[in-house]
Amino acid sequence: MHLSIAQAKEQLILGKVVAIPTETVYGLAAIYDKEKAIAEIFRLKNRPPQNPLIMHVSDRDQVKSFASIIPEGFDLLASHFWPGPLTVVLPVDENKVPNNVRAGLPTQAFRMPAHPMALELIRLTGPLVAPSANLSGRPSAVSEAHVESDFGIDFPVLAGGMAKRGIESTILVLQNGRFCLGRLGALPPEVFTPLLGYTPELALAGSKVVCPGQLLRHYAPLATLILAKEFTEAKYIIGFSNRHYPEGAQVLDWGPEDRPEIILSNLYTILRMLDAKGIKDAHVDMNFPEVGLFQTLSERLRKAAS
Ligand code: TXA
Ligand code: MG
Repeated sequence: MHLSIAQAKEQLILGKVVAIPTETVYGLAAIYDKEKAIAEIFRLKNRPPQNPLIMHVSDRDQVKSFASIIPEGFDLLASHFWPGPLTVVLPVDENKVPNNVRAGLPTQAFRMPAHPMALELIRLTGPLVAPSANLSGRPSAVSEAHVESDFGIDFPVLAGGMAKRGIESTILVLQNGRFCLGRLGALPPEVFTPLLGYTPELALAGSKVVCPGQLLRHYAPLATLILAKEFTEAKYIIGFSNRHYPEGAQVLDWGPEDRPEIILSNLYTILRMLDAKGIKDAHVDMNFPEVGLFQTLSERLRKAAS
């Protein structure tokens, strides 16, 4: 069921859950302090309660009203990348954010989405917490149709078209006073170097769990993905538009080899299409360099194939 912005606002204020568009992926949103609605998000997604939610803001001052520390570099990052596909995890005043949003952690993830409809809605409702609008473990939803395929045609959706990025935000977390990568995403690590003076490295999940969601099986279609560099046996190949593959195989084209941002924007649509067509297994062309946004691609494919 498609809602207007005014209807979405009304539903959220009543304590309901509404799917919202963002430039990365669709989110399953509730107002941050409506604890029953937040419990409903976890129920709808079948999401483990130890996996916390991102808070979506329309104004940097909202972050400052919750955070207990604003680390050096935060304002620089926010003024450069917000609104946009960057999530920053900060220590917060635990009395100000419900426990179930944070999954009991002393921190909160924040992001300002770059979708005009999402921003307008958040200006009307205040901060919205939202995980990606997919059943837990499945590929994220990058269109209203994907949301409806997971939650039903009657589910309330603020329809905002295809998500431009089509891949989740990059998450920065603080470790020992430095930002590191909690999750690879729509922004490659090297874009932060000029601002921070260092390139954030992958956070080690060793002693402390950094991004709880990263430990889970994720982004996976029902189809089996075969990550491959040769394709003699392949029936279906997810691969590059400018490459030649063995005759007889059907190629699911994810874009040209020099445009990882296009490939990422097509990834979840292709993974969901496999299931919609009842395809049981597909080979994926892994002949690409592990640099820039290709690191995000590689990480998502490994999770989706595991
Ligand atoms: O692009 C995105 O980030 C999308 C859109 C809707 O904003 N959201 C999204 O949410 O991908 P979700 O819930 O699917 O993934 C959020 C990730 C999870 O891996 C979660 O563990 C991590 O963020 N996370 C959330 N709060 C955290 C915290 N306080 N500390 C560490 N990791 C956190
Ligand atoms: Mg998700």
